[in-house]
Amino acid sequence: MTHSSPEDRSPVLEIIGGHRLSGEVRISGAKNSALVLMAGSLLCSQDCRIRNVPSLADVARMGEVLSALGVKITRKDDALEIDARHLSQSKAPYELVSQLRASFFIIGPLLARLGIARIPLPGGCAIGARPVDLHVRGLQAMGADVQIEHGTVHACIPGVNRRLKGARIYLDYPSVGATETLMMAATLADGETILENAAQEPEVVDLANFCRAMGARIRGAGTNTIVISGVPSLHSVDYAVIPDRVEVGTFLVAGAITQSELSLAPVVPDHLTAVIAKLRAIGSEVVQETPSRLRIVPGTSRLGTDIETLPYPGFPTDMQAQFMALLTLSEGDSIITETVFENRMGHVAELNRMGADIRTKGNHAVIRGVPFLTGAPVVATDLRASAALVLAGLAARGTTIIQGLHHLDRGYDDLEGKLKLLGAQIRRVKGDTGAESVSSLPVMPRS
Ligand code: UD1
Repeated sequence: MTHSSPEDRSPVLEIIGGHRLSGEVRISGAKNSALVLMAGSLLCSQDCRIRNVPSLADVARMGEVLSALGVKITRKDDALEIDARHLSQSKAPYELVSQLRASFFIIGPLLARLGIARIPLPGGCAIGARPVDLHVRGLQAMGADVQIEHGTVHACIPGVNRRLKGARIYLDYPSVGATETLMMAATLADGETILENAAQEPEVVDLANFCRAMGARIRGAGTNTIVISGVPSLHSVDYAVIPDRVEVGTFLVAGAITQSELSLAPVVPDHLTAVIAKLRAIGSEVVQETPSRLRIVPGTSRLGTDIETLPYPGFPTDMQAQFMALLTLSEGDSIITETVFENRMGHVAELNRMGADIRTKGNHAVIRGVPFLTGAPVVATDLRASAALVLAGLAARGTTIIQGLHHLDRGYDDLEGKLKLLGAQIRRVKGDTGAESVSSLPVMPRS
């Protein structure tokens, strides 16, 4: 891993650790829902309004992908107004898709609407190779002709009516993205599609509810068998994204790692069963104050525990790095096993620079608890790794400087602003001068 030179002027986060936090956190809409709902809006040739959309670089990038396809998209506060009436382009630009893997998921709705879609392969990313074979094989089962040439997936529906056909599809792995791609494609297909071994993530359910609000006929979302009966067209919708369960989990760990009581809303506690169970095993209490509010009450001591990431309702891979930060300060040994992505341990070396004692072998990490971490310059390697470093920095003695903030800005809506409100000593500064810097998020047109 390379640490950038002293001349690097990219903003960094400076955290002075060791301070207790307190107060309430307002949770934003779920990144992974917002992105796939934006893709789903392509299914509809009338106006779509998606509310509770977080302000994130990934959302802005997905907006650019939709614009490149001829879709009108504007942001009004936390709402996106999307008009895909004039969807005309079937080819997504490589520069955008390569930066945002979720934008590949437009292949399903684009094919269903236009009968043709040309999407560059998203390629690998920091956490793994991330193939799209399950998406492709599912679309082929629905009658699409799919060729991969020169790094681009060319999909088209042969025949005169250019409509996909319902099919029975067994997914070898309950992939979130493949379930979403195929569910969207099936909403406008001719006949019934049955997705077996489907992903059960709350974001899949949110997409199903969004599509149903547009007139799609979907049942079983949230179980491993989803049945979609195709309809000829979908109508306009006004829909609010669910709260971000990974943001909730990250703030729950912020409470546990700084031994602070925090109250979080709005949340859907049922989406966090595995995360709450592990916090309890570590010694924190998570109290449901109202149906949509959780309070973390940290225990006096923190205990080690073992964690294995799994598809929902198992422990989420998107919370693995944050829990690793917490377990570095827990008593005894813990083992984390990452089963979803093959290369999601980039934060280990950085946590060790802060005094953690973690060893990895393959997809296992053995964490020996240490009494304290010390602030250090560190580099974020991916989105959730960057959150783990922020959490470690909040608990560490001294100052932590985090580089690579473009990862953090992809997926957390104003994390440092929210932490500041809780009393954290955190600021974004220019890499070399130490001057306070402003955020450099891409901006979506506002009406
Ligand atoms: C989504 C989430 C991501 C989360 C992940 C797992 C979005 C935008 N992102 O990613 O935050 O970490 O779910 O909960 O929603 N795979 C294949 N072939 C395929 C598709 C996937 O082998 O065609 C493999 C992947 O390489 C990976 C595993 O399946 O090892 C899980 O991936 P998947 O569930 O598809 O994750 P994403 O939808 O990309």
